[in-house]
Amino acid sequence: MMAPAQDVREECVREMDAKRGFGTTWLREAFLAVPREHFVPDRVWWPDPGPDGRCPLLDRTRKPRAWLKAVYLPGVPLITQIDDGAVPPDGPASGAWTSSISSPGVVIEMLRHLALGPGDRVLEIGTGTGYNTALLAHRTGTGRLTSIEIDPEVADRARTALHGLGLHPRLRCGDGEDGHTGDAPYDRVLATASVRRVPYAWIQQLRPGGVLLLPLDSPFGHDLLVRLTADGEGRAQGRPVARVEFMRTRGQRGGSASYTELGWPEGLDPEQWEDLRIEVGVDGQCVTVADRTAGAAAVPAPPGP
Ligand SMILES: C[S@@+](CC[C@H](N)C(=O)[O-])C[C@H]1O[C@@H](n2cnc3c(N)ncnc32)[C@H](O)[C@@H]1O
Repeated sequence: MMAPAQDVREECVREMDAKRGFGTTWLREAFLAVPREHFVPDRVWWPDPGPDGRCPLLDRTRKPRAWLKAVYLPGVPLITQIDDGAVPPDGPASGAWTSSISSPGVVIEMLRHLALGPGDRVLEIGTGTGYNTALLAHRTGTGRLTSIEIDPEVADRARTALHGLGLHPRLRCGDGEDGHTGDAPYDRVLATASVRRVPYAWIQQLRPGGVLLLPLDSPFGHDLLVRLTADGEGRAQGRPVARVEFMRTRGQRGGSASYTELGWPEGLDPEQWEDLRIEVGVDGQCVTVADRTAGAAAVPAPPGP
């Protein structure tokens, strides 16, 4: 007999407890309370291409047990859209992954670093399936939670899933790189799509002391999860807290700017990622290496976009 979703979810929690854990009680409770499977479409792609270069399709109606198991594998994201929806989910497929549900492990890592307080005013960029939005709502309630998704079909699906659980945060369909001034200033801004250049709107819309958490493209072949704190004077500073991989925001796919133009120093050792310091202002972004003995060697900030 197939294990009920609750059992599979609890097994996932045990596996994550045994690794890094949740770090905070509310997050563990939220993970147990929010049915991740409710947010995952019946047909999704497994993110590991086969020998033919195509990602296998997981179909809930055909293989419910395999589908449910995949939904709760701690380290596995599932692809929910390819080529902005041009590829129908009716078989194995190749193409650019344009929407997904992040793996449980990454979702937990991000929310742990976000350090949300009850009732915080939050902006999420990249609603995707709405799963992360539901976890956020568990902590903050829905009254002060705004989430933006650029793809209308993805946004509609997330709205239906969230409403199906009685959750009614402010859901917007549009370009999240502009943030959302209507509900600002935010205590927390969280991006679940990566950028090469931090949109200044995200800093402008934070309250002084507010936190921006985002995946930032790096010269190391992966993104860095960066946590920045707004100084109340138009700038935000912080550092990378983890190595991650995310899909890029639509407006920043395939950008041609070099890393130097994006404010990165040359000749970085990938092992130095934890020593980096990042500062963003209206004049652009600047990455420096914290020299623990002699202060930071700064690279001049490039002009903003
Ligand atoms: C990794 S998925 C988000 C996963 C989501 N948090 C979840 O729990 O399912 C990234 C999402 O960002 C969306 N996206 C890309 N560029 C965007 C933009 N400029 N504004 C808002 N959403 C964007 C994509 O359409 C995609 O759905």
